[in-house]
Amino acid sequence: MAFFDILIFIALSVLSVSADLNGDLTGTGVRSVFPGDKNYASASKAFNLRFTFSPAAVAFPKTPNEVSAVVKAAHANNYQVIPRGGGHSYVANSLGGKNGSLVVDMSSMKAITIKSSANTAVIETGNRLGDVALALNAAGRALPHVMLESAGIQVDLFAFCDLNDWTNLCSAFGGYGFTSRQWGLALDPIFAINAVLANGTIVRATKDSHSDLFWSLKGAAPSFAITTSIEVNTFAAPSYAIVMEYTWENMDYKTAGKAMYSFQNFSLSGPAAPFAGELVLGRGSRQGSVTFGFTAAWYGKKGSAIPTIQPWLDVMPTPSSSKLVGNGSYIDSVSQLSESPLDTSSGPDATDTFYAKSIMTPEGDPMTLEACTSFMQYLSTKGFSSNTNWFVEVELYGGPNSKIREIANDATAFSRRDTLFTFQLYASSSNYKPPYPKEGFSFLDGMADSVTSKMHSGWNYGAYANYIDNRLQNWQSLYFSDNYPRLKSIKDQLDPHNVFMFPTSIEE
Ligand SMILES: *[C@@H]1O[C@H](CO)[C@@H](O)[C@H](O)[C@H]1NC(C)=O
Ligand SMILES: *[C@@H]1O[C@H](CO)[C@@H](O)[C@H](O)[C@H]1NC(C)=O
Ligand SMILES: *[C@@H]1O[C@H](CO)[C@@H](O)[C@H](O)[C@H]1NC(C)=O
Ligand SMILES: *[C@@H]1O[C@H](CO)[C@@H](O)[C@H](O)[C@H]1NC(C)=O
Repeated sequence: MAFFDILIFIALSVLSVSADLNGDLTGTGVRSVFPGDKNYASASKAFNLRFTFSPAAVAFPKTPNEVSAVVKAAHANNYQVIPRGGGHSYVANSLGGKNGSLVVDMSSMKAITIKSSANTAVIETGNRLGDVALALNAAGRALPHVMLESAGIQVDLFAFCDLNDWTNLCSAFGGYGFTSRQWGLALDPIFAINAVLANGTIVRATKDSHSDLFWSLKGAAPSFAITTSIEVNTFAAPSYAIVMEYTWENMDYKTAGKAMYSFQNFSLSGPAAPFAGELVLGRGSRQGSVTFGFTAAWYGKKGSAIPTIQPWLDVMPTPSSSKLVGNGSYIDSVSQLSESPLDTSSGPDATDTFYAKSIMTPEGDPMTLEACTSFMQYLSTKGFSSNTNWFVEVELYGGPNSKIREIANDATAFSRRDTLFTFQLYASSSNYKPPYPKEGFSFLDGMADSVTSKMHSGWNYGAYANYIDNRLQNWQSLYFSDNYPRLKSIKDQLDPHNVFMFPTSIEE
């Protein structure tokens, strides 16, 4: 045996006889919490209390080398590994989505390095969105990212996203926010990704180096590696930004169907890229009606916000209320949309008990008036009597002038760039605490069906992996569409032992 072979042989023997995962993790020197430890319950608590999972351990690495050591220890002991970013997975995938995974909690890796000369930044994946937005803003810069909105309940400071959500920008699976029509998805400005592979190797992936990995990470990240930091091109923070809020109380469902249809019509006419908006729908105060809201933002010339939406307002009834919100600064618009402080050092994480679904509508095959009306009828009847606390958001992704759709569907793993609207359907238990009522599932299933069943049978709609749904059939195609076969073959090469496995991970 050559010298190195002997060393490897000794190392393997040591591993194979080593007590167990606990011993190996302890040996890495990385702080780890095990079942029975006093911090275990808090370290393994899900955001969505519909789920309780018992991870084998939760490790808190501080450096890429420590992440690598943890992954190697898991691999040596045949444990599956799951990265945890903000920890706000809708289905607790960031705890493994099942019992017995090793959770790599990134919350100790919070460096943000801004390179002003190059307009770039390196952001470690333990950061939260508010902290990233504040740090960049202090340098006059910004990124496209999700909103921190809390529709209906006081959620928390942090975006709803899936595991290893990359600094809560949610870039691991897309990352839509109100600046996305002008800047793209949160994953688009990323030009390099520092990550740890399933065998513990540390790599820097770019379009030229580890290019398959880079492609996969942009839209399906946690199946392939643990991202330790992202390198991004930043944007100049807009010099003017304003938020607009309109509400139509108790809109009857037929009017609401027409209103959604006319919003679609307006969206297809291609409002300027600095415009962003979403419909926010909620329970009406009488059967047959809904609360129809519109939240929008404008990041362009002062005074042009309302003229931009005027063509749609012209065909709408008079709102019950309308207001401009914010003092005109970009960071204030971020803060107004978050409805909570951006500095995440204050306050504990909130929790909720909920189920969510999504629908992504193809821009080339818009909804019919009949589908819009069917949806509103459902919300105004089943939604009126539901015992859940629910809301719906209809987010504008596309339309001419949107940057999201200027990139090809196969350019990154995120495959549904030709989306016009992404619907988020969300229903919490009546007091936001467990148990979750069975009715919540059928209520949301029926809500999604009220749109899709009115469209023709070949309607190529999708679903959004950041609003992940653990009951979704055919999720491979709904989330990843035509990119799924390539993702599977890359998964085969990079993670043959399926170390990074969770219920909706890319299959071998
Ligand atoms: C996971 O573990 C918890 C606590 O040990 C247990 O109550 C639960 O039933 C387990 N879940 C599954 C799916 O095995
Ligand atoms: C659709 O948009 C066009 C302009 O783009 C407008 O003239 C028309 O009234 C709109 N129709 C509806 C139903 O909103
Ligand atoms: C606008 O509001 C932000 C906080 O959201 C604050 O930091 C900033 O100083 C305010 N700017 C002006 C001009 O009032
Ligand atoms: C780790 O995996 C990568 C990707 O499959 C491979 O290129 C590399 O050679 C592996 N490293 C070791 C030490 O096995």
